[in-house]
Amino acid sequence: MTTNTPINIHVEKIAKSKISEVDFSNLAFGQVFTDYMFECEYKDGKWQNAEIKPYAPITLDPSAKVFHYGQAVFEGMKAYKDVEDKIWLFRPADNHKRINISAERLSMPAFPEDVFFEGLNKLLTLEKEWIRKEEGSSLYIRPFVIATESGVSASPSLEYKFMIICSPAQSYYAGEVRVLFAEKFSRSANGGVGYAKAAGNYASQFYPTQLAVEKGYQQVVWTDACNHEYLEEAGTMNIFFRVGDKLLTAPTGDRILDGITRKSIIKLAESKGIEVEVRNVAVKEIVEAAEKGQLLEMFGTGTAAVINPIKGFGYKEKDYELPELVDSYASMFKQELTAIQQNKAEDIFNWRYQVQEK
Ligand code: COI
Repeated sequence: MTTNTPINIHVEKIAKSKISEVDFSNLAFGQVFTDYMFECEYKDGKWQNAEIKPYAPITLDPSAKVFHYGQAVFEGMKAYKDVEDKIWLFRPADNHKRINISAERLSMPAFPEDVFFEGLNKLLTLEKEWIRKEEGSSLYIRPFVIATESGVSASPSLEYKFMIICSPAQSYYAGEVRVLFAEKFSRSANGGVGYAKAAGNYASQFYPTQLAVEKGYQQVVWTDACNHEYLEEAGTMNIFFRVGDKLLTAPTGDRILDGITRKSIIKLAESKGIEVEVRNVAVKEIVEAAEKGQLLEMFGTGTAAVINPIKGFGYKEKDYELPELVDSYASMFKQELTAIQQNKAEDIFNWRYQVQEK
């Protein structure tokens, strides 16, 4: 979906940047935000009043539908700066497509592609200094849509805000990750919202994850809602298992997010001749592979985390440790993917997008 009218994004300049107050060598994920934010309103059946303004709290009526019925969807993206100071995004058209897929599932209006790109280009031009070149640095970009119409009738809002905020980032999960296979809780079910990046999908993870943290794990690996037989996603990430030299990952569909990092890893692996089986992965087979020493790796993939190696898992009160590998798939894929993202390697798949500075 694109608009037919010229895109006019009004920019309100900041008086002074906050950047000098930020310690870029010590950033907790998603805590510091940049100088600006992008905002566009939906009312009277159309998106209008696109603007970039100083980052600040917003005011909503307490009855706004987002607070009561959770009509909210979001995306996660990252911008990188190369040695020549060019700014790059990774597969941004896929983020645009996915936010509209998520929005449709929650009865929210699609956001036009041309305004999405124009907004990103202008915003990232203004935020250029916040995109750092140090190893592991990026600017995490969070587009989101919320229902702003006031009134607590349980029906889709007629008014929305589409916004983009940005936060300088280093790595997402610090330290070693151990996961707990879910035996009771589920993240999603057939016919549900699992494939959407709906805010509520994340809220519903907090309680089971908290219980897992109390037992010494960092994340839960979600299993299917019917019998908890199959492994689906790891916390906020997609998950891969390496059994021998083969990679296994669950298919996307109703329940599983179509992760952009996930599908990029599948392509990268296949291009290297690594066999990838996209199929239901049973808890039983992974436990057996771990017992036989054939489970060599598990890793989560996502925009925020990129690739997060998993050191071990817990299931039915038993802990399983994975071997320490010198040449792991996880580190190879992370290195290759980030090199493509940062314009340090050839982009054979045409994934990079150079931000048009405005
Ligand atoms: C992302 O990887 O962008 C995510 O959506 C994870 C987020 C919950 C931090």
